[in-house]
Amino acid sequence: MEALYQARRKRLLPTWRSILYVPANSPKFIAKAPTVGADALTIDLEDAVPPQEKDRAREMLGETLAHVATGSADIIVRINRPLSLAVRDVEAAVSVHVKGLTIPKVDGPSHVRLLDELVSECEHRKGLTLGHTSFLVAIETPEAVECMREIASASPRVVAMMLSSEDLSLECGFEPSEETLLQPKQQMIFAACAAGVRPLGFLGSIAQFKDIEVFREMVRRSRRFGFTGSSCIHPLQVAVLNEEFAPSKEEIALAERIVSEGDKAIAEGRGTFQVDGSMIDGPVIERARRTLARRR
Ligand code: COA
Ligand code: MG
Repeated sequence: MEALYQARRKRLLPTWRSILYVPANSPKFIAKAPTVGADALTIDLEDAVPPQEKDRAREMLGETLAHVATGSADIIVRINRPLSLAVRDVEAAVSVHVKGLTIPKVDGPSHVRLLDELVSECEHRKGLTLGHTSFLVAIETPEAVECMREIASASPRVVAMMLSSEDLSLECGFEPSEETLLQPKQQMIFAACAAGVRPLGFLGSIAQFKDIEVFREMVRRSRRFGFTGSSCIHPLQVAVLNEEFAPSKEEIALAERIVSEGDKAIAEGRGTFQVDGSMIDGPVIERARRTLARRR
């Protein structure tokens, strides 16, 4: 049963390299969003929208979604955490255009299950297929860090997990930096992989967008740690994420050689061989296959 559950979820996992946040109360950003080339857009009802704008942003959500859906990006909506706002946000967001909801400040698996129940009711009421709406869960509190694996496994709706540098460091009283956040972020990657969901994000700060080559280096380093894509806040970051979270030409060429040499070796009854002086065996061939699967 658990295996079936895992297999079903894996098949549905999205391959988002770049997910651009778009403040839900900003007509200027909303107008531009479908043109920037992001794999997904997160229409943000939470941190990017000040309290006095929350209702207006939610009231205009239908129109916003209809506009952003004119592009090819998948649409995600980030809801608020306070329950009264969360319920209204979910009711407004669940719709044919919306592939996923980002759940901020998740504090445990029951939090995810409660929202799952609410989303199921909304899907039923709106005539959508049950399970239409995925969840991206955001780890932002020390309580959540303590149960990331359970959170990621709390519902088959969960497809991705991320850890918010600013929120977590605020809650825990440390300064946000690559050094202080490395341990929880790596732990998050293990939890996401163990639950069969995508680990999203990067090692550095989302807020730095002006020095784009510094940003690129940081994203490249992050990919080596196992992140598969990330949210971002500015159009300049989108192209970098799309490039760096896709395999390079060189990686594809090498992977193709490894796979074809691997097929030959296996046909000849050999489990190991060499390519350019490096030993190749099962996991290396499997890594090469996954690289080829990620090419677009
Ligand atoms: N979505 C869509 N368009 C965006 C955008 C976004 N997130 N951020 C910037 N743009 C647009 C601008 O409107 C501008 O468009 P134009 O050339 O047609 O005028 C262009 O990209 C260049 O923007 P720029 O002038 O460099 O930046 P800015 O001062 O307009 O905005 C920020 C900078 C940081 C305020 C803005 O990027 C932003 O608010 N991002 C989202 C932040 C967010 O959602 N935070 C919460 C989650 S962490
Ligand atoms: Mg936040």
